Amino acid sequence: MKVERNMSPITAQIRLVSSHPQVYEPCDDSFALVDALLADRANLLEHHPTVCMEVGCGSGYVITSLALMLGQEASGVHYFATDTNTNAMRVTQETSEAHGVHVELISTDIASGLNSRLEGLVDVMVVNPPYVPTPTDEVGCDGIASSWAGGEHGVIVINKILPVADKLLSKKGWMYLVTITENNPSQICLQMRKKGYAARIVLQRSTEEESLQVIKFWRDYDSEVETAEVGSANKTFPARVVDSMLSQLSRLSFRRNDNSNNS
Ligand SMILES: C[S@@+](CC[C@H](N)C(=O)[O-])C[C@H]1O[C@@H](n2cnc3c(N)ncnc32)[C@H](O)[C@@H]1O
Repeated sequence: MKVERNMSPITAQIRLVSSHPQVYEPCDDSFALVDALLADRANLLEHHPTVCMEVGCGSGYVITSLALMLGQEASGVHYFATDTNTNAMRVTQETSEAHGVHVELISTDIASGLNSRLEGLVDVMVVNPPYVPTPTDEVGCDGIASSWAGGEHGVIVINKILPVADKLLSKKGWMYLVTITENNPSQICLQMRKKGYAARIVLQRSTEEESLQVIKFWRDYDSEVETAEVGSANKTFPARVVDSMLSQLSRLSFRRNDNSNNS
């Protein structure tokens, strides 16, 4: 469902966002991701990223907003955006140019072909993937359906993104990922925990259609030790971070079930 949005000088302006019938228009999930970035803006500025990247840029609303909110204070940042939809390339170019932002656009599957250039270099990755549970054969089909078709549990594309993110993120790299409850975000966090990442829900929002989360991941160098300790009473910091996130998620799903029982 589309919502009206207050104009803010540090996010892309909807009236300047280009469009195409085959390209995903900014929607509640896009706004949730931008709001999560905005809420974390002070940390992002202190993070001093040099390479930022969006996987699945669609209209370019998110990567343009990220560039605007980092602004002059983070000059010299290189912005990349990928999408399998070639129409999204043109639309993102128009959106970013309309805001005076330069984004390097690459039409590819996730980040295919970018390893040699970007491995270990991406400081901030933002992803609003196709997450809607659908029949698996709808995933990756041409056109607008590829914007949302996520296959079983909505995680087919997400599962492809996680190892790529692990390869491309720098040592201090952060990833902000949009999920819905049906994606089983705790499983996604556990997958990333095995790769050495801690996680935190930075935004949770329920719409009429879905319960969205924006999860922030970062490398935690204690986590290799911690993985061996999971299950012991003496959990180290990252295990507790993920555990508290998992309990946050189970409380949310409990409330959701509670609401549906009441309706
Ligand atoms: C939910 S839309 C999000 C668009 C935009 N980021 C936003 O938040 O408004 C998902 C985007 O991912 C793109 N996409 C789907 N599968 C992809 C893949 N394997 N590699 C790169 N992009 C993909 C779609 O074409 C679509 O533009």
